[in-house]
Amino acid sequence: MTDARDQWAPDAAATEACGAALAQALLPGLVVHLHGDLGAGKTTFARGLLQALLPGQRVKSPTYTLVERYRAGTLDVLHLDLYRLADPEELEFLGVREDVGRAVLLVEWPQRAGDRLPPADVDVALEPAAGGRSIRWTARTPAGRRALARPPDLDPT
Ligand SMILES: Nc1ncnc2c1ncn2[C@@H]1O[C@H](COP(=O)(O)OP(=O)(O)OP(=O)(O)O)[C@@H](O)[C@H]1O
Ligand SMILES: [Mg+2]
Repeated sequence: MTDARDQWAPDAAATEACGAALAQALLPGLVVHLHGDLGAGKTTFARGLLQALLPGQRVKSPTYTLVERYRAGTLDVLHLDLYRLADPEELEFLGVREDVGRAVLLVEWPQRAGDRLPPADVDVALEPAAGGRSIRWTARTPAGRRALARPPDLDPT
């Protein structure tokens, strides 16, 4: 089984659809790191995932709050954007550590956390290409592999 998979998202709706596909495979405690430069589509991907769990939910970027919390049934999902995290120690004040291992973590700019957050089960890397985005999924752990092994309707590129 391969641990990496590539997809092509020609527009923002397709990026959202990729996020929605992952929503079907979430497990409590799953850690998803969202990589890509400013404007790559990380929040768009997270929005698709969250709205698949919570139809009609408004999903705003955690640009200033750094973390937005959602609950889908019994599953807690935390959406983090750590771009403005000045120091990894700030994570202590966000109260995120208690959620590790229990809530799903969707993390934009995960490298800003240093080792204060767990490593990814699934890495999602978005990169602009030809007007759309290329999206590469990589499973890093057995939990991540399980999540990506049940990818509902991902069309390979
Ligand atoms: N596949 C795509 N093709 C074209 N545009 C896209 C695609 N996916 C997302 N976009 C657009 O890219 C723009 C930036 O998206 P988004 O805010 O999700 O980026 P981001 O990676 O979260 O940026 P930041 O690092 O600033 O948080 C939005 O206008 C969004 O609609
Ligand atoms: Mg963003």
